[in-house]
Amino acid sequence: MRKILVAANWKMNTTPTTAKNLIKAIIKEHDGGNYHDILICPPFTSLGVVSKNIENKDIALGAQNHSQYDNGAYTGEISASMLKDIGCKYVLIGHSERRVLMRESNDVISEKFTTAIARDLIPILCVGETIEEKERGETKAIIQNQIDIAMKSYDVGKKARFLIAYEPIWAIGTGLTATPNDAQDIHNHIRSRLKIISKELAENTQILYGGSVNKDNADALFSMPDIDGGLIGGASLESSGFMAIARQKNK
Ligand code: PGA
Repeated sequence: MRKILVAANWKMNTTPTTAKNLIKAIIKEHDGGNYHDILICPPFTSLGVVSKNIENKDIALGAQNHSQYDNGAYTGEISASMLKDIGCKYVLIGHSERRVLMRESNDVISEKFTTAIARDLIPILCVGETIEEKERGETKAIIQNQIDIAMKSYDVGKKARFLIAYEPIWAIGTGLTATPNDAQDIHNHIRSRLKIISKELAENTQILYGGSVNKDNADALFSMPDIDGGLIGGASLESSGFMAIARQKNK
């Protein structure tokens, strides 16, 4: 049975000082309640303070990106081993803001996905289509291509864990969300794609939905059979709203 994961993507928000306040507020609510699994992905400079504050708490830490290279002369880059050492368990790979704004190609994303696994991080591979691609009816083909390229070096025999986050680009930060049924249709497609590789992989891989998830639409999305949680941007920057999304209800 796959568990629900509610992941916060703080993007380029918070300083170490404000991150400390936000994580403390999240922990305060978390200590008294019944919540789905929670993952916090702060910017690099806030990883240390969040890591320290969630010690001995049932909250996981993740980063938003890392280099495809292991170490050496790559000025300005952060490696997977650095993230591991600071306490990260997960890393977002191929977020659309990196694909579009930082021009990360499917091939670079594939290298990062492979590096994350090699360094014992759990990659969350983000995929999604633009509004134009959606209108042309290309959503499934685009996503399939993004997944196939990212996973081209994946060794199924090693059973390394990863997640997929379906995030339609037109839904990110716009207030527009895919309907639960539309999102379910894409998630089901992703799972059938994974089934071609391995039935076990398809059954065990959590597929998150992202794109304007908030406390009013989260439950309907998470109740769909192939939606195993969410990747939350804007609504993760305020503790009570985020924790309302993460609060456990019956599936
Ligand atoms: P949003 O962002 O919740 O603000 O739409 C989601 C994401 O980009 O991961």
